[in-house]
Amino acid sequence: MDLIILFLCLLILFSSVYVLFLQKKVNYPPCITGWIPWFGAAFQFGKAPLEFIAQARAKYGPVFTVFAAGKRLTFVTCHKDFRTFFTSKDVDFEQAVQEPVYNTASISKESFYRFHPACNPLIKGKLTQAQVQLSGHLCEQFNTHLALLGRSGSGELCDLVRVTMYPAVISNLLGQHNSPNSPAAVREFIEIFRIYDEGFEYGSQLPDIFLRDWAKSKHWLLSLLKRMVSRGREPSEASTETLLQRLMATVTDRFLPNYALLMLWASLANAIPITFWAIALILSHPLVYQKAMEQIRTALKDQSTDRTSVLAAELRRTPYVKCCILEAIRLRAPGAITRRVVRPLQIQNYIIPPGDLLMLSPYWAHRDPQLFPDPEQFWPERWEKADLEKNVFLEGFVAFGGGRNQCPGRSYALMEIHMFICLILFKYKFTLLDPVPHPSSLHLVGTQQPDGPCSVQYAHR
Ligand code: HEM
Repeated sequence: MDLIILFLCLLILFSSVYVLFLQKKVNYPPCITGWIPWFGAAFQFGKAPLEFIAQARAKYGPVFTVFAAGKRLTFVTCHKDFRTFFTSKDVDFEQAVQEPVYNTASISKESFYRFHPACNPLIKGKLTQAQVQLSGHLCEQFNTHLALLGRSGSGELCDLVRVTMYPAVISNLLGQHNSPNSPAAVREFIEIFRIYDEGFEYGSQLPDIFLRDWAKSKHWLLSLLKRMVSRGREPSEASTETLLQRLMATVTDRFLPNYALLMLWASLANAIPITFWAIALILSHPLVYQKAMEQIRTALKDQSTDRTSVLAAELRRTPYVKCCILEAIRLRAPGAITRRVVRPLQIQNYIIPPGDLLMLSPYWAHRDPQLFPDPEQFWPERWEKADLEKNVFLEGFVAFGGGRNQCPGRSYALMEIHMFICLILFKYKFTLLDPVPHPSSLHLVGTQQPDGPCSVQYAHR
């Protein structure tokens, strides 16, 4: 009898160990934990996150988890799983970004869950419906600010792009009276926005006391947006409603300037570095430059290089320039986008537990040689088979995210970058004085930043 009981006990013990072992092996993705409790792999991951993702994928396969600073980040890297990432009901965007939103813009949790769902459709609606109206005003603004570069000069290309695009885009989206109105005001804005943008990734994870300069830049920008909001409530002569005024009609609590700050950040932080990359990559590829310039000159043939009109018709006549922009976005796409797993989620043979942050790296997705042959090559021609008039992109291109929370500014972004590049290349001849810098490997949030300067000389045509 004793022997039978002992045998049964051992059987139960072995089968539970086997089931647990099997479950662990089969169900959960491999996890990179590091050695230090709570910090996990944070140090190795934080040193160069993009490289870490590539090495982890090579070692552990297409789905893996990184345990870092108390969080589990589960990466999906195979394009066949991207649909699940974007459309599954078992993942949630708001729950993934609420805490970073609190840290970067001081919006309370209650306010965020109440007003955020209306923001994406609001921005997308305004930027899509009013594009014709916006593009006329934007083109005037670009002409005005490009004229300030003078007849010739030299400088850092990224800086030249900022100094001309920031005030023009702010005027276009938030209203003329809200744009920095002198060269000194533009410089001050650029400097403070640079600190905020560069520290955004750390700022999204840490409380303000750890990042004093960054916190100062956040409060400076918040005060600026508070002033804009109170001016926006005054009766105005302007016949057209700005994006800021549309936001004011929707967000009705005291965090309105904080939402406006996030909207301002989203509208400048990705599009301006991409404009820099697209110009630098075009200039550094002579055949691409020649082909783009032929199209630009033909499309703008009877126009003056002082006041130049680049509107919908001219944009349609320069499709190769748009191919160059999409190719620059492909190569310098955001390091990662995220969702929170809210119910057990199946990806391949794995179950991802609730609470995990699900991560997708557009930067690496765009380097899949099956979808993008010779992926490191800047080759705008690959976009000729996409329907770019309708903004239908290539399979596997996820730079603007996807699903309900896909970037609501994507068609505006492509329009503004396309317009700006046609204008600047038509008006000025550039000479690159430095090689095009590499992208910095430090950041996951947003499009890639250059890791060094790129000086140019320019002369008006
Ligand atoms: C090349 C330029 C741009 C790129 C690559 C880009 C990319 C992205 C990405 C990847 C997301 C997250 C989507 C997701 O998680 O599925 C996003 C969100 C967003 N983008 Fe863009 N973006 C660009 C330009 C713009 C512009 C010009 C605006 C505004 C005028 C804008 C406004 C926003 C906003 C408001 C969100 C948050 C959406 C939400 O909370 O649901 N973006 N963008």
